[in-house]
Amino acid sequence: MKKVAIVTGASSGMGREFVNTIDKRFSSIDEIWLISRRRDKLEEVRAEVNKPCLIIDEDISEAAFYYRFQKILRQESPNVKMLINAAGFGMVGEFDDIASEVLMGMVNTNCMGLTGMISLVIPYMCENSRIINFASSAAFTPQPGFSVYAATKSYVLSLSRALNRELEKKGIYVTAVCPGPVATEFFTIAESGKKRAWFKDVFMANKTDVVNQALSDSINKKELSVYGMPMKLFMVMTKVLPHRLLLFFYKFLLK
Ligand SMILES: NC(=O)c1ccc[n+]([C@@H]2O[C@H](COP(=O)([O-])OP(=O)(O)OC[C@H]3O[C@@H](n4cnc5c(N)ncnc54)[C@H](OP(=O)(O)O)[C@@H]3O)[C@@H](O)[C@H]2O)c1
Repeated sequence: MKKVAIVTGASSGMGREFVNTIDKRFSSIDEIWLISRRRDKLEEVRAEVNKPCLIIDEDISEAAFYYRFQKILRQESPNVKMLINAAGFGMVGEFDDIASEVLMGMVNTNCMGLTGMISLVIPYMCENSRIINFASSAAFTPQPGFSVYAATKSYVLSLSRALNRELEKKGIYVTAVCPGPVATEFFTIAESGKKRAWFKDVFMANKTDVVNQALSDSINKKELSVYGMPMKLFMVMTKVLPHRLLLFFYKFLLK
């Protein structure tokens, strides 16, 4: 049975970085499955790597995708060693300034899509396999001005931590990755020309560093991967300070 790594969001940013890193570092993986909507970008990624890749150019926010994906899993019957759920997007702005389709798209991609992927793939995972889910430091508290995105990432974080406990008896380990701002296409989409909050540039991380840390945390069976001291401190603050106080400070930070 071929050993496979499945990466959603493989066309760009941290998903793409994961594909390149798995290709270089994991000789035990026979094939990488690349999932995202832009086929041309996935073709570029396939050309970048040495391992065989299966391109699945699909929109994971569409329920119909799951029937097609289930069929692929049944046909290929892979041994999935790694599932990386990196597909996702955010939109900055007040809730009632964002179109309903965009708000629902965030929930469908970041929550429904990720949940469906995990649910379909688990039956194809054996002992000593890994699931890596991209949450965000936005998962740690509610965020006015980024409310739906932060809520979807709280869902990912909560789900990942619970699943890690449920699945450890099967030898499947789940890590939630919670980076602060990372330089990728994410902000081009999330800000769509809006002014960036000053602190995001100050704490902007490099995607290679975030991905390397996530991989090493996953190998070490850690349920959380938080890159960099500033985000670790932020996480501690969100645990010790009342959220009412944090929400008060956000008013000034997000100006
Ligand atoms: N960058 C940050 O500051 C940051 C911080 C914390 C957490 N995160 C999270 O990290 C993950 C990776 O983000 P990134 O920074 O690498 O952003 P990115 O460069 O914009 O990559 C997002 C990926 O998701 C794919 N995608 C989006 N919607 C999709 C859909 N409906 N169906 C299939 N694929 C879809 C995109 O591909 P297509 O357009 O080709 O479909 C792309 O490959 C996301 O979950 C994001 O929320 C990002």
